[in-house]
Amino acid sequence: MNNKRAQWGSKLGFILAAAGSAVGLGNIWKFPGKAYEGGGGAFLLIYLAIVLLLGIPVMISELSIGRASQSNVVDSFRKLGYRGFSWVGWFGAIVAFLITCYYSHVGGWVLRYVFSYITQPQAVYADPTGYFYGLLGYDAATGATFFPWTAILFAAIFMALNAVIIIRGVESGIERFNKIGMPALFIILLILLVRAVTLPGSEEGLRYMLSFDWSKVNFHTVLVALGQAFYSLSLGMAIMITYGSYLSKDENIERNSVIICITDTMVAMIAGFIVIPAVFATLGADGVGKGGGFAFASLAGVFRQMPGGVFFGILFYLLLLFAALTSCISLIEGVVAFLTERFHWQRKPTTIIACSVMFLIGCVYTCSQAAFDIKGVWFDLANGVSFPIFGDAMEFLTDRLMIPLGALGCCIFVGWIWKPESAIAEIEQNGIKFGLAKPFRFLVRFFAPISIFVILVASLVFGTTLS
Ligand code: PFF
Repeated sequence: MNNKRAQWGSKLGFILAAAGSAVGLGNIWKFPGKAYEGGGGAFLLIYLAIVLLLGIPVMISELSIGRASQSNVVDSFRKLGYRGFSWVGWFGAIVAFLITCYYSHVGGWVLRYVFSYITQPQAVYADPTGYFYGLLGYDAATGATFFPWTAILFAAIFMALNAVIIIRGVESGIERFNKIGMPALFIILLILLVRAVTLPGSEEGLRYMLSFDWSKVNFHTVLVALGQAFYSLSLGMAIMITYGSYLSKDENIERNSVIICITDTMVAMIAGFIVIPAVFATLGADGVGKGGGFAFASLAGVFRQMPGGVFFGILFYLLLLFAALTSCISLIEGVVAFLTERFHWQRKPTTIIACSVMFLIGCVYTCSQAAFDIKGVWFDLANGVSFPIFGDAMEFLTDRLMIPLGALGCCIFVGWIWKPESAIAEIEQNGIKFGLAKPFRFLVRFFAPISIFVILVASLVFGTTLS
């Protein structure tokens, strides 16, 4: 192991990499559907409140823990003198591992769509839903299932791309890639926003996103918003502690945290205002499907009906690809940083082995898409021993259970064990002023842990469904 810790090469490099980690499939693939199901504007408000009151303090806490300890997520707690809290780190590393398994596969589907849109858009256009099912190994016309080779192959390519960037290291790999990927993503996003809101008939979707349908809101919705917010901000896991550990001591953690949270939330909101109005305009309210197939089957239907659809389709899936890559890189970096430092393994073989294992586990996800009404090959082959709810179960376990618990652990650690004063001292080095120190102390000690605990327990007690 080399003893000199990697560091970000520049201020902008860190912000872009952290924002790149935050902005991902969560914002574009997950958020719009959840906002729709959660009552449009009502969900947006709850989400905003959570980002502001819980997301920002937890982001500040995680970056401070990382930078103070200069260590990976598990060892960071030990380095700060609290070995008993290493479980928060273990938790984080396990969640990052679990998420990467399926995230890399969805990234592979996206890559496949970029290719399809460039080389054979007619194939997608002819039957958008059928095309998506076909990718996952289900022939809707005959009801036959087959092994989804194409999806698996593209997932393997996607994972390999990640591995190459990770092996190159923090500065020349992760940072350099984000410097190109993130600005590209913003430009594409703005073009798509203009396109979506100028489609005839998009007003109804806009109205829905700005209306407050509180009848759809209950404890479960709040937990969904909480899980979604932390997931989207890459919190409650290994990542921001790891990225914080590469941060130099004269960086302003408070300002960076606010910038990252605002950027991520803006992208999610813009994605919501692209996807929902576009679906309303082209497919009507019924077109807003549930679950993970939405960004593929429904949106391909949207592009089919849009003037210049192929062009905008390519742009959209490229956007999704950049977003997925920059996030997946950070997930894998969390796992790899932990393994290399903990067990003194070399970066390259560790990355290759970790990526291979996560890719293989993820194959179960691609092969078991029964959750979207598709009978995946596992469903058939295993004859009853299937994993039809692999995706939903995974989301429940990670987004709604482990991530909030990890964030809770982090708040308790900073609020009560390490103490907010230590975090504030870490932030206020080199003459930097932490303007929000007072609200931070209150939020991280009382408001955030209590709210996370209440939302988690209430929604588990008052009934939570997997989806
Ligand atoms: N924040 C990413 C997204 O919204 O897609 C996903 C993610 C990346 C989650 C990194 C967790 C993480 F550690």
